[in-house]
Amino acid sequence: MALKDFQIKHYRSVKDIWLKLNPVNVFVGPNGCGKSNLYRALYLMSTIASGQFARSIGEEGGMDSSLWCGAYSKKDPISMTLSVKVDELQYDLECGYVSGDYRTGYAEMGRVLVHGAGNTIFRNDVEIKSEKLFRLKNGSRSMLLKRKGMEVSVRDVVEKQNSDYSMRVAPNESIFTGVRDPLKFPELSMLRLELLNWRFYHHFRTDKSSPLRRPQIAVRTDIMAHDGSDFVSALATIIEYGDAPKLFKALKDAFPESELQIGLSNAGLKLRMTMPGLQRPLDAHELSDGTLQYLCLLAAIFSKTPPSLLAINEPETSIHPSLYEPLARLLATASETTQIWLTTHSTDLANYMEEYCGYPPQELKKVKGETKLVGVGLGGYRDDDDDYDSEEGDDE
Ligand SMILES: Nc1ncnc2c1ncn2[C@@H]1O[C@H](COP(=O)(O)OP(=O)(O)OP(=O)(O)O)[C@@H](O)[C@H]1O
Ligand SMILES: [Mg+2]
Repeated sequence: MALKDFQIKHYRSVKDIWLKLNPVNVFVGPNGCGKSNLYRALYLMSTIASGQFARSIGEEGGMDSSLWCGAYSKKDPISMTLSVKVDELQYDLECGYVSGDYRTGYAEMGRVLVHGAGNTIFRNDVEIKSEKLFRLKNGSRSMLLKRKGMEVSVRDVVEKQNSDYSMRVAPNESIFTGVRDPLKFPELSMLRLELLNWRFYHHFRTDKSSPLRRPQIAVRTDIMAHDGSDFVSALATIIEYGDAPKLFKALKDAFPESELQIGLSNAGLKLRMTMPGLQRPLDAHELSDGTLQYLCLLAAIFSKTPPSLLAINEPETSIHPSLYEPLARLLATASETTQIWLTTHSTDLANYMEEYCGYPPQELKKVKGETKLVGVGLGGYRDDDDDYDSEEGDDE
């Protein structure tokens, strides 16, 4: 399945952006223009399916930090929306602050509240206001599932009417985890599995006490952890069970005079690299930050089980510009099986991506605090779904 488009409204510096997505997508722009915000918005989409959405919003400072803090258009509520089209399915989510309905009696119980507005201690938690799942076909769309507040209704496509789903979902829980019935809701299950299959890599910690520099547990690792903490096991898994020739070719491309060695010691899996001019290989704890970062990227890209979408945020942070071209070649290889999302500061890396993958980068800039796509009218704003004829079953 492929992510075809993604709309984000009122998330941090993104007031309203509609992204039309290709097999390879590169977003480039200066510091503070909103690259990581776009990446985070996509990551949030996947947490909706994994049940970690509320926690992820909480970890980034709750709704106070997540909501766009600039001016809102008069017609817009103070809420955030995320919408994806994946093949023939469209999923829309609107969320915002916890509403008054869930206030508890803390004040009467004599508890001191941190916040004044409302009586719930979870004031900064997220509340899902609505969710909709549509099937798109031949230029029209039909509603499959709809949630408003805690009520879920299901569209009966034969009877052409909505009926209530017997269970209610928690205010900060999505229908993806609240409505689990794959036989009854195959499209919801399919989309859930698809979102869970997306993979995100943002930052690999390479400081001296990083787990990347220590021996690792020797377990077969088909999917590297998001922080690269098991990258040696992931590389060893690719060498034993995956596409080792491709990995070795990519290693030669990036480090032509070095050799990678992985061995098993009493302490666990150990990685070493030979270096030209040195009489012994260097251990992981002696390698440069950039070398470790690049090895992590190799482990992510040549994963034994490739994801349907691989999102990488600002990989160039500690990589020398001489590695940008091999990295672009690497991502071009990965794009044969995986949709790529890359955000970067580097116009050089973005240009190499265009050269090897054939898709021009999309430039981002910040205008009056708002993240905009350069060269797209109104920053890629989708007025409404006017490309769809009828909206069967979406009676408010
Ligand atoms: N709630 C918010 N409302 C509006 N703008 C916000 C909000 N939270 C953060 N921002 C803005 O988002 C910007 C940071 O965006 P982001 O981290 O995505 O930038 P970036 O392009 O990744 O930058 P860098 O290249 O430094 O990593 C900040 O400049 C900040 O002004
Ligand atoms: Mg950033």
